[in-house]
Amino acid sequence: MPCPIVSVSDAAAKRVRNHDCWVFRDELEPSPDSIPNGDVVELADRHGRFLAYAFYSGTSHIAARVVSTDRAQPVDRELIRRRLAAALKRREAIRDTNAKRLVYSESDGLPGLIVDQYAEILVLQVRTAGMERWKDAAVDALRSLARPAGILERSDKEFREEEGLPTVTQLLEGRVPERIRIEECGLQFWVDPHRGQKTGFYLDQRDTRRLVRELIQPEQRVADVCAYTGAFGIGAASRGARVVCVEQQEPLLELLRENAMLNGVADRVERVAADAFYWLEAKASQGERFDWVLLDPPSLAKSKADVLKGRQALHHLLINALALLADQGTLVLSLCTYHLLGLAEEILRIAAAQRSTRLRVLAVTMQAADHPWVLQMPASRYLMSWVVRRDGPPAA
Ligand SMILES: C[S@@+](CC[C@H](N)C(=O)[O-])C[C@H]1O[C@@H](n2cnc3c(N)ncnc32)[C@H](O)[C@@H]1O
Repeated sequence: MPCPIVSVSDAAAKRVRNHDCWVFRDELEPSPDSIPNGDVVELADRHGRFLAYAFYSGTSHIAARVVSTDRAQPVDRELIRRRLAAALKRREAIRDTNAKRLVYSESDGLPGLIVDQYAEILVLQVRTAGMERWKDAAVDALRSLARPAGILERSDKEFREEEGLPTVTQLLEGRVPERIRIEECGLQFWVDPHRGQKTGFYLDQRDTRRLVRELIQPEQRVADVCAYTGAFGIGAASRGARVVCVEQQEPLLELLRENAMLNGVADRVERVAADAFYWLEAKASQGERFDWVLLDPPSLAKSKADVLKGRQALHHLLINALALLADQGTLVLSLCTYHLLGLAEEILRIAAAQRSTRLRVLAVTMQAADHPWVLQMPASRYLMSWVVRRDGPPAA
């Protein structure tokens, strides 16, 4: 059956031709009103020329997400399977872990599909009405391509609401244990796929964790602030550092303790249930010093409307984090707040000026390679880290 044709503005047509995947509602000409949520549509420019096949959403501010720009290749089960096979192949080079993101939505040509692998288990998340229609095809293909022992669906995030979808957590295949043991760069961690944040683990921080671990020296003092289940801090402790992990959600500290034990570093890892804002301020006013402050807060601004509030929150965290740095101490600021990424260096400069601190940049990193950043889709880069060292002025 031919799919409905939806015309888009000149600006949107230009972007789609240049590999952008999103068309916003106010870019449809005119806005169609009778296309069911999740249908595949044909996008065309104002002269009726074919642009792409796309998932349509009648509810989201992103009205269409491009799936295929090849007129001869409409969306079908075979296309889903080929895209999945290509996504898995792309990750074969990531070898120092058995936990990785196998599919990252638009970056892998599968808008709205996330698949994370934890050893033998896959955790899948569907974020768009379009992909919801093709979920069975994706699961079928994953069964034969990855041969998992179990597949869990964790489509439990609030962003499904905008797509008109209910939240769902369900077992799709086999058995999924309460906890899975994974390996990352020589360390081991327990992951809770059923209740953990994201799909259970912050896979996206793997490269930054590895870098930080390489730089940390035995006996250094490390504060892992917003620690989750301790992946950064335990890495530091495995290098012989003395670590304090600060996490607001107290129940997570039990998993953190077990992770520390699993890696034989429990005696080097102190666990503190506290709000990072208060903890940093209190330690700064007590004059404590750390060789490393690892600061990995949750999103500080969910939308553009929250940018001012997010900026103030980040400034507050930084001004106290910088006060804690020993001479030649290093701050690792990680930000997963897309709307603040472009402002982070300015905010860091302002906070450093207030602390009369010169900062030398050792590295700027981003989300790990299994979360590919497509240049034409700015939102596909959502995580950055700045590794900056407190530095004296150059010698006279
Ligand atoms: C981005 S995650 C950290 C991921 C972690 N660094 C890792 O690599 O596994 C942010 C963490 O901050 C915690 N958190 C949120 N608000 C907090 C606050 N005000 N104080 C302390 N922790 C907070 C969340 O519960 C979450 O575990």
